[in-house]
Amino acid sequence: MLKFFITTFGCQMNIYDSELMAGILQAYGYQQVFEPRDAGLIIINTCSVREHAEERAFANLWDLYHQAPKKAKKPVFCVAGCTAKKMGEEIFQKYPFVDLVVSPANVYDLPKLVNTFQKTRRKQLAIKNQTSYIKKNFPVIHANKIKALVTIMQGCNNYCAYCVVPYVRGAEISRPLKNIVAEVKGLAKKGYREVTLLGQNVNSYHDSKNDFTDLLKKISSLPGLLRVRFMTNHPKDMSGTLIKAIGQLDKVCGHVHLPLQSGSDRILKAMNRGYTASHFLGLVKALRRAKPDIAITTDIIVGFPGETKKDFQKTLALVKQAKFDASFVFKYSPRPGTSAAELADDVSATEKQRRLELVNLAQQKIARELSQNLIGKEVEVLVEDLATDGKNLFGKTTGYRTVIIDTSLAPGQRSTTNDQRLPLGQLIPVKITSAKNWTLYGKSAIRE
Ligand code: SAH
Ligand code: SF4
Ligand code: F3S
Repeated sequence: MLKFFITTFGCQMNIYDSELMAGILQAYGYQQVFEPRDAGLIIINTCSVREHAEERAFANLWDLYHQAPKKAKKPVFCVAGCTAKKMGEEIFQKYPFVDLVVSPANVYDLPKLVNTFQKTRRKQLAIKNQTSYIKKNFPVIHANKIKALVTIMQGCNNYCAYCVVPYVRGAEISRPLKNIVAEVKGLAKKGYREVTLLGQNVNSYHDSKNDFTDLLKKISSLPGLLRVRFMTNHPKDMSGTLIKAIGQLDKVCGHVHLPLQSGSDRILKAMNRGYTASHFLGLVKALRRAKPDIAITTDIIVGFPGETKKDFQKTLALVKQAKFDASFVFKYSPRPGTSAAELADDVSATEKQRRLELVNLAQQKIARELSQNLIGKEVEVLVEDLATDGKNLFGKTTGYRTVIIDTSLAPGQRSTTNDQRLPLGQLIPVKITSAKNWTLYGKSAIRE
């Protein structure tokens, strides 16, 4: 029986795709292993979003190759994901030991490609644009037992000037609502308590009759589920109807990831983002009005071509004004083929680093303050697992903060995930006793 090992880079959509590849291969009777040395098929699921992400994946590919047996015992190497689509044939030239190159739209063909390669020893390239797979049943194998990712759409039509995603993931296409509902119902039946609906821009989800608000309402009504999350949102497509629904639907978590990218209207325009800084702030306000205490997180790019110190100051000011719960800050990385790659990458590496650190510093201060405001309060936590010490519990608040819960076990005593007394998969009230930037510590009220 063929054993396969998968390693994943990139965003949650790639994590889902890896879980999907695992499901497809298992359906063919292959077995997943978690040690590369046990595998006859090694898959690297790659990301192209920044140069660094690409380099990390290929460094890992070399490592795996060097550690693997050679000659007749060499495992089959497969490069999957966004870089497979972007580089195609070039991967075989640069990494001659790679046997299969498979883009995200071709994962269903994986078992066939492996078979053909094993029979013919001819390299297999599967990077054609195809959309039929989106209508298929997705036999995903989830790593986590309590929460699951569910892709609701693929691709992107936005063509933000810096972004490679529309080129590697293709045009936006939504899964039919009934397929998503069937998948989530199946998950709830198996005991999953939380789902995260995924897409590059979930706000523009639409199948023939339903938009994203309809989908969110439908998913929140399914019995068994306790929490629903979704990401990523695009500020230009976030409607009043959706904001209202987020406020009204109890199972929809109090967390929205709303990427700002820049606080300067001039740069937002150059990025082709389709909104202004004041529109963005209006959305932040509306979200907080609809769901008080909602956590808002964001992505920011520093050093986009032509970003002056003044533009950057606007970003920094907006970060402080919006009081995000967390900001993920990235240094602009030119991506060949995108429209911004035609522009001079004119902010120096040191200046990009300086700007990144300034945003991080401001954000850490805000995050710390917001987390410390929770000390003494009771928050609801979905308990996911034992913490790494085998003693405390680990879970998330509705706003996605990590909580470590003191279980009051005697010193030296450890528990196991099979311990029936542990409230795994349950929502429990926790009194917060201390806080770091993103992690909270507390005691479970029900255990006192
Ligand atoms: N669809 C999502 C983003 C996907 S990429 C959205 O629109 O929000 C995740 C983040 O990577 C982006 O939000 C952006 O901040 C960052 N990013 C994308 N391309 C980049 C580039 N060329 N250089 C630096 N950061 C980039
Ligand atoms: Fe990239 Fe923009 Fe699409 Fe997000 S919305 S994936 S940043 S092109
Ligand atoms: Fe990376 Fe592809 Fe996701 S480029 S960020 S893995 S969509």
